[in-house]
Amino acid sequence: HEFHKGVQHLCERGITKVPRKYILPALDRPIFPKKDGATNFKLPIIDFAQLQGPDRIHALKSLSKACEEYGFFQLINHGIACQSILDMIEAGRKFFELSFEERSKYMSKDMRAPVRYGTSFNQNKDRVFCWRDFLKLDCHPLSDVLPYWPSSPTELRQAAVNYSKETKFLYIMVVRAILESLGLAETTKDIDENDGDHHIIKEFQDGSQLLVVNCYPSCPEPDLTLGIPPHSDYGFLTLLLQDEVKGLQIQHEGRWVTVEPIPNSFVINVGDHLEIFSNGRYRSVLHRVLVNPSKSRISIASLHSLPFGSMVRPSPKLIDDANPRRYKDTDFASFIEYIASHEHRSKNFLDSRR
Ligand code: SIN
Ligand code: FE2
Repeated sequence: HEFHKGVQHLCERGITKVPRKYILPALDRPIFPKKDGATNFKLPIIDFAQLQGPDRIHALKSLSKACEEYGFFQLINHGIACQSILDMIEAGRKFFELSFEERSKYMSKDMRAPVRYGTSFNQNKDRVFCWRDFLKLDCHPLSDVLPYWPSSPTELRQAAVNYSKETKFLYIMVVRAILESLGLAETTKDIDENDGDHHIIKEFQDGSQLLVVNCYPSCPEPDLTLGIPPHSDYGFLTLLLQDEVKGLQIQHEGRWVTVEPIPNSFVINVGDHLEIFSNGRYRSVLHRVLVNPSKSRISIASLHSLPFGSMVRPSPKLIDDANPRRYKDTDFASFIEYIASHEHRSKNFLDSRR
C-alpha cells in the first residue's frame, strides 16, 4: 500500500491534509501549548566535563536526581567532536533525500535486519500510522553489519561508523557514572581495578547498539497525529541527538512537557532495562514526538542494551530489607519478544514483571 512507502513519499506528492490513516482518536491527539514556551519546562542539565573533573561527586548527585525524578537529562560538554555530529546529521538527511526507489532497497519486515528503512512505529502492525520515517542501523559488531549498511549517500557509512564509535564510548562513560551514582562502585578507579565491577563494564562494552535516524517531515495538520506515539525505550540508555526543531515531549508530573533543544548536547534517557537494573530507583519515562507545521525535523537515537544472552534483573546489590525486589528476572530474549509483540506499550512490560 501507498502508506507503506512512508511520510516523506507522501509529502513529495504535495498533500494539504493529513490522510485518515494518520488521524489519531481524539483522546490521543496532542494539545499544542497556545504560546511558545508557555510551560517553561527545563530538563536537568548534566555537565560531562564536570563529571570527569574534581567536582564528580556533585555531578553524580545531580545525575541520580535527574534519573530518579525525570528519567531524562541533557548532557553538555560531552566531548564528541562537532564535526562527527554534523556529518552524521547531514548523511542522515541526505539518505531521506534519495529517491524512494533507492531508499526502499533497505525496507525489511525482519525486526532484526542489520539495516531497516521504514515508516510509522511498526508499519506491519500499527492501525493508525505515525508521521515518521526511519533508518535503523545495527552497529554491533561493526565489522559484521557494515557490509549491509546503505552504500548511498556515499558518506553515510563513514559518518555512521565514526558517530557510533563516539557515542558508544560516551555511553560507557555515562554507564560508569550511573553505576557509581547507584553506589555500585566507589570510584571509577575501583571499577578498573576490581575484577567484579570490571566484568560488569565488559558486559556493557559487548552490548548491542542501534542507530535510528528519524525523519519527521513537516505536517499540514500537526494536531491530528504524532511523530512517535507514547512509548518507553526498552534498552539500558538512549543517547538522542535532536536538531534545532523541537518535538520531543516527556511525561513529567502527569503532563506532557517539551524538551527544548540545546545546541550541541545529547538528551539521555533511562530505558526499561535500567529501571529494572536499578530496582526501580531510576525511571524509564514515557515520551512522544510532536510534528511541526512548517519545519521537518531529524533526530538520531543511539540505543544501547546489554548483550542478547544477558539477564534482565535488578542488581542484587540494590535489593535489601529496606528495598525489596520490585521486578522478576527475565532473559533478554523474552524481554525483546514481549516488546516486539506489544509495540509502543513497552512500559507495560515493567508492570507485568512487578
Ligand atoms: C524516540 O523516542 O525514539 C525519538 C525521539 C525524538 O525523535 O526526539
Ligand atoms: Fe524513544
